[in-house]
This record gives sequence, structure tokens and C-alpha cells, in this order.
Amino acid sequence: QTVLRLGVAGLGTVGTSLLRLVERHGQDLAVRTRRPIAITGVSARDRDRDRGVDISGCGWFDDPVALARSAEIDVFVELIGGAEGAANEAVRAAISSGKHVVTANKALLARHGAELAAAAEAKGVSLNFEAAVAGGIPIIKTLRESLAGNTVSRVFGILNGTCNYILTRMEREGLSFEACLAEAQRLGYAEADPTFDVDGFDTAHKLSLLAAISFGTEIDADAVYVEGIRSITTADIEAADELGYRIKLLGVASRTDTGFEQRVHPTMVPKSSPIARVDGVTNAVAVEADFVGRLVLSGPGAGGDATASSVMSDIADIARGDVVGTFGRPASALQPYRRAQMRAH
Ligand code: NDP
Ligand code: HSE
Repeated sequence: QTVLRLGVAGLGTVGTSLLRLVERHGQDLAVRTRRPIAITGVSARDRDRDRGVDISGCGWFDDPVALARSAEIDVFVELIGGAEGAANEAVRAAISSGKHVVTANKALLARHGAELAAAAEAKGVSLNFEAAVAGGIPIIKTLRESLAGNTVSRVFGILNGTCNYILTRMEREGLSFEACLAEAQRLGYAEADPTFDVDGFDTAHKLSLLAAISFGTEIDADAVYVEGIRSITTADIEAADELGYRIKLLGVASRTDTGFEQRVHPTMVPKSSPIARVDGVTNAVAVEADFVGRLVLSGPGAGGDATASSVMSDIADIARGDVVGTFGRPASALQPYRRAQMRAH
């Protein structure tokens, strides 16, 4: 088989972990997928920075759009981030040049996912995004492939590692919100702009992608009610504890009789619930569906290595020649998102 040539744009937390993964497991992956995999091009802003990985054998591109268009790659791996700007332009350039795309960028897909999926379909290339939701948890493939024979009624859980890390350390160690956020940034969990994490927008982006796959609807991140954790204090956490609850930032997407509902907000979760026991950077996603019933997946929700694991699972699908479709059905089959009517409480 010919080598599957990867162009990796973004050599930060996730990109450098992906390079290490390919170095460590490249030979085994070639056996598993029956196709050798090699990184032939890379792009980042600062060419001179020591990133602790060997990029001497890869072509360097200052401009990720040039990498996306390069004849030296078959798959463009976008690990830059952001809904607009370089990531957006490069992903569009890759698709229009007939390259498969793998991305961890939930902000991009929440804003432009349906349009990009349609463009990828028209070109006969994959647009895969397992790493974009819940880091190392294989929730995209679970919903899109494993649960294809179900009608999903609800998908919910802890979808942001940074927020769960902050809430856990505030609760366990009484640390301030600011100190916990700084530590989450140091560990590479937070977004480049951490307001996306703490104000709930990152969870909303992820939830809107899960809703699109679960319900077969167009992505509508603007339909999500969003409230973050910035105003939660240690006093709130202690008061919840005395009442038998823990505070978690949950994302909830439901199918109702009148339409669909998506919301993100801090929630008092009874300590007896499995989700209350999800600590630190761990995420947990629960799915309720008609044939399978209820299942819960949990695991690392952020961090370079766990996220690179998911990125590689998408690359391996491309190496095997599996084309599933970004949202598990043709982009043209996504139904308009119909908001549920407000209920009187
Ligand atoms: P980082 O900020 O660590 O890395 C971003 C990389 O993109 C850097 O190498 C940077 O270059 C490069 N970059 C930025 N702008 C440009 C540009 N204009 N041209 C070329 N390269 C550019 O981000 P992460 O690795 O943390 O995240 C990457 C993506 O993965 C994001 O979409 C994020 O949301 C997503 N993600 C991250 C997770 C995590 O735990 N960190 C988990 C799941 C998803 P330079 O190094 O030279 O500055
Ligand atoms: N900033 C994100 C988080 C990265 O903390 O969950 C994983 O998507």
C-alpha cells in the first residue's frame, strides 16, 4: 500500500502529542490499518521554537493554507483552533484541494460544520472530528456509528475538562477559581482563550455537535442556553455539599414533544449520581436511546495525549478507507433544528 501522508497544522499541546504518538505507534498502525502513515508536512507560527519533538524529516510551512494545498499530503490535520482565521481558511483549502481533513476544532465545526461537511461530501473526502468532543472519549463514533440503529432522546454530561478540573480543585482543596484556572492552562487543558471554557461556550459548541449527530438536525450553537462557572464560589460548593450535592457544569440536549432543547449551566448533582463522582479533567457523557437504553462513557476530556488518541482514530479510519460521513448522514439530510416550546414549571 502507498503511504498515507499527513500534514499537521498546529504543533501545540495536541499537535506535539500526535507527533509523539506517530513516532511511538507508527509501525503498529501500519499493520492495523494495512497502510503506512507518515507526517510529511507541519505548520505552526514559530519555526524556531523547541517543541521537544523531531520535525527534521517534515516539510515546514509558515502558512497552514499552503500546507493544506500541498501535493505532498493526503490528509490535513487541523490542530490550530478557532472558528475563523487560519484554521477555517486552511480546512476550506484542504477540502477544495481534495484532501481528507481531521480536526479537533469544535468552535469551527459548531459554526461552519454543516457547510464544511457538505463541501467534503461533494469532493468525496472525509471530515472527521472525534477529538473535538470530550477529548479521549470516543463519543462521536459511539453516537454516529455504534448507535446508528437507535433514536436518541437525550445526551448529556460533563463536556469541559477545564471546568470540571476547576470545580474539583475548588471543592477538594479550597483553592480560588483563578488559581485553578491558571493550573488548567499550565497543563494544556484550557482553550487559547479560556473564557470559552469558563463561560460555557466550549461546552455549548460540543453539545451542538452531539445534538446534530444524535437528532439528525442542523447544528445550532446559538440555540443553546449558556451559563458558565465564573460566578461559582467555594461558599456555593460548600453549601451544595451540606445539602448532599456537587456542582457540575453540565451540557444537556433533549428531544421533546415540541422540538429540541439544548442547555449548558452549573447544576446541583446528587452525590449518589455517577456523574457527581467524575473528578478533575475527566468528562462523562450519558446517552439515552430507544433500543440500547442508557449508557455512560467517561474518560479524559482534555490533554494532549488523550486528544491525540482520538485524532489518530480518525486518521486510522481514513487509512482503512472508511468514509462514514461527518455527521453520520448526508449533510443535506440534516433536518432544520426546531426549538422546544418553553414549559411552565
Ligand atoms: P495550542 O494553543 O497548544 O496550539 C495551537 C498551535 O497552533 C500552536 O502550535 C500554534 O503555533 C499554531 N498556530 C496558531 N495560529 C497559527 C497560524 N496562523 N498558522 C499556523 N499555526 C498556527 O492548542 P491545542 O493544541 O491545545 O488545541 C488545538 C486544537 O485542539 C483546538 O481546536 C482545541 O480546541 C482542540 N482541542 C484541544 C484539547 C486540549 O486538551 N488542549 C482537547 C480537545 C480539543 P505556535 O506554537 O508557533 O504558536
Ligand atoms: N478546553 C477544552 C476542555 C479542551 O477543557 O475541555 C478539550 O476540548
